[in-house]
Amino acid sequence: MTRAFHAPGRVNLIGEHTDYSGGLVLPAAIDRGLTLTGDAADRIALESDRYPGAVKLSPDGAGGAGQHWGRYVAAVAAELDALGRPAVGFAGALSSDLPDGAGLSSSAALEVVVATALCAVADFPLGPPDLAAACQRAEHRAVGVPSGIMDQAASVLGRADAAVLLDCGTLEHRLVGLPPSLALLVVDSAVQRRLEGSGYAQRRTELEVGLAALGGRRPVDVAPVEAGALGGAAGLDDVPLRRLRHVVAENRRVEEVEMALTGPQGADLEALGRLFAESHASLRDDFEVSTPELDLLVDLAVGAGAAAARMTGGGFGGSVVALVLAEAATEIGGQVVAAYARRSGRSATAYACRASEGAREFA
Ligand code: GLA
Repeated sequence: MTRAFHAPGRVNLIGEHTDYSGGLVLPAAIDRGLTLTGDAADRIALESDRYPGAVKLSPDGAGGAGQHWGRYVAAVAAELDALGRPAVGFAGALSSDLPDGAGLSSSAALEVVVATALCAVADFPLGPPDLAAACQRAEHRAVGVPSGIMDQAASVLGRADAAVLLDCGTLEHRLVGLPPSLALLVVDSAVQRRLEGSGYAQRRTELEVGLAALGGRRPVDVAPVEAGALGGAAGLDDVPLRRLRHVVAENRRVEEVEMALTGPQGADLEALGRLFAESHASLRDDFEVSTPELDLLVDLAVGAGAAAARMTGGGFGGSVVALVLAEAATEIGGQVVAAYARRSGRSATAYACRASEGAREFA
């Protein structure tokens, strides 16, 4: 019997670089992702229309992981083995309509689709937070990037027409309905992003210095004005102070964006525009993870009529996300791509996305 499993990519609406200090994030799973078809087998044997080479491993992940994508598969199998998953393999094929390196979490979707399939064929039930956490550990194991849990959690917990407000400290979460009048426009800057070799780990280390000044409190429990006062005589150096200042303010913005999306009068576009702009400026100036291309795309999106726009994901390349009126999404996307080509000489790609269901087995 052939079975089919799907795991979506994600776009983060707001709450950037807040997950690994136990903060708030507001991602949505999108209507693009990875699909794995196949069935239980003695070994893990996968091929793909997207990634080169075949992956052949034992069910616990041992063996030659081979190609880059094989490392993720092997790491997921090893993490599930450590949790006691019975040694059942999976033979099948992976297809994808999610771009790689665009900041839409293709590696998290790969981990989650493999984990979902491996758990299903072994009748090994794992609750969504545990599955997401196993996949996050697999990311660390595979490529050594100390990423947070947002991407994997979004791919697992996403729901149609909603974003997921996740407290990364407790893994409590709730859905935040997205107004049907708004589309999520993602524009990929065509500057390939890989967190391996980027400043991601360095940002984390710099933030740790700032966090130590909080005396054990989570940044989510600190007022922005208090964080701002930790410099100068209070002794925190400029870089950790700015990293901390971003995280503290960004957590607040997540809550404010939830309010702006769900107010009694419908979405408050003005507030969304301001909050996205503040987030982008803070990521550019205080956290220093934006690029000139992402800054340009944000300006172009707002100039073309987006209600709100900011960089999304880890930064250092990747994509921006814009909230646009659904009927204008194609038009705005086209205008941004054309103007970006004129200004930067690069060809961006625009994707109008819908918030979609998280990882699942197709019936
Ligand atoms: C990457 C990481 C996430 C998160 C974002 C920044 O996507 O994988 O865990 O830290 O960057 O918000």
